[in-house]
Amino acid sequence: MNIQVAERSVSPMTGHQSKGEPAVGAPVTRNEEAHHELAIRVRDLNLWYGQAQALKSINLDVYQKNVTALIGPSGCGKSTFLRCLNRMNDLIPGVRIDGLVEMDGRDVNEAKMDEVALRRRVGMVFQKPNPFPKSIYENVAYAPRMHDLVSRKTDVDELVERALRDAGLWEEVKDKLHQPGTSLSGGQQQRLCIARAIAVQPDVILMDEPTSALDPISTATIEDLMDKLKQQFTIITVTHNMQQAARVADYTAFFHLGEVVEYNDTQAMFSNPHTKKAEDYITGRYG
Ligand SMILES: Nc1ncnc2c1ncn2[C@@H]1O[C@H](COP(=O)(O)OP(=O)(O)OP(=O)(O)O)[C@@H](O)[C@H]1O
Ligand SMILES: [Mg+2]
Repeated sequence: MNIQVAERSVSPMTGHQSKGEPAVGAPVTRNEEAHHELAIRVRDLNLWYGQAQALKSINLDVYQKNVTALIGPSGCGKSTFLRCLNRMNDLIPGVRIDGLVEMDGRDVNEAKMDEVALRRRVGMVFQKPNPFPKSIYENVAYAPRMHDLVSRKTDVDELVERALRDAGLWEEVKDKLHQPGTSLSGGQQQRLCIARAIAVQPDVILMDEPTSALDPISTATIEDLMDKLKQQFTIITVTHNMQQAARVADYTAFFHLGEVVEYNDTQAMFSNPHTKKAEDYITGRYG
């Protein structure tokens, strides 16, 4: 997609949202070709680190089997928001959260939510590839075994192969499955981490700047992979690369100072941003 920002105007389709109004749950316009089952519904989500409020009344509908990109300047709350979706902020002392993060009709923050099961359903890929200090095979096999998804050796072998194939890594590693995961290149390690994430058949994969430590070829490989994986999984990815957001994301949410300022299908966001802040950010005039 060509990132050219058209002159700002309020589209007739979006008449209810004028510049500067807070984003609502659903995107302003919808890509009518896309799949629109709701994966995650976020309502009035607030988060504080001690006294400092990092997320402010976030409302966002995330759609199944789409790629949603989170963009915005450093420190605006993108990683914090991602961590709310599988309760990884619980691991940080002094965090307080209120509001709703709903998946399958349940609030992920409810007391009886099984966090381990939640993190199986909502997997994560980090900025820096972080394979376990184990073999390539064990990196993929470990979590499915732990969750009792497989036990027979042949089933584990099959699952490892499928996950590595789906992550686009099988051909490169099939003859060295028992070498350490850390012996791979950075781009291969990141695909190994993706294989590890998909091996437990999650519903949602969170990716926090998954390509920012990678060279352009590995980046392109991961972008292609995201495009394939969205047939099976809902993907939410953070990126500072506007071209990447434009290439891979069906929807884009623009965060600024802890708020979602604008949320739209990506093409609409990049061609006709509805807020001055999003326009400035997308065109590189900000941050
Ligand atoms: N563990 C933490 N303890 C206290 N404050 C934190 C913690 N993590 C993040 N913050 C603060 O919360 C705000 C949002 O940070 P966050 O990491 O979510 O931003 P971000 O949008 O992911 O930024 P970047 O693009 O640099 O990764 C920042 O002001 C940050 O300083
Ligand atoms: Mg971050």
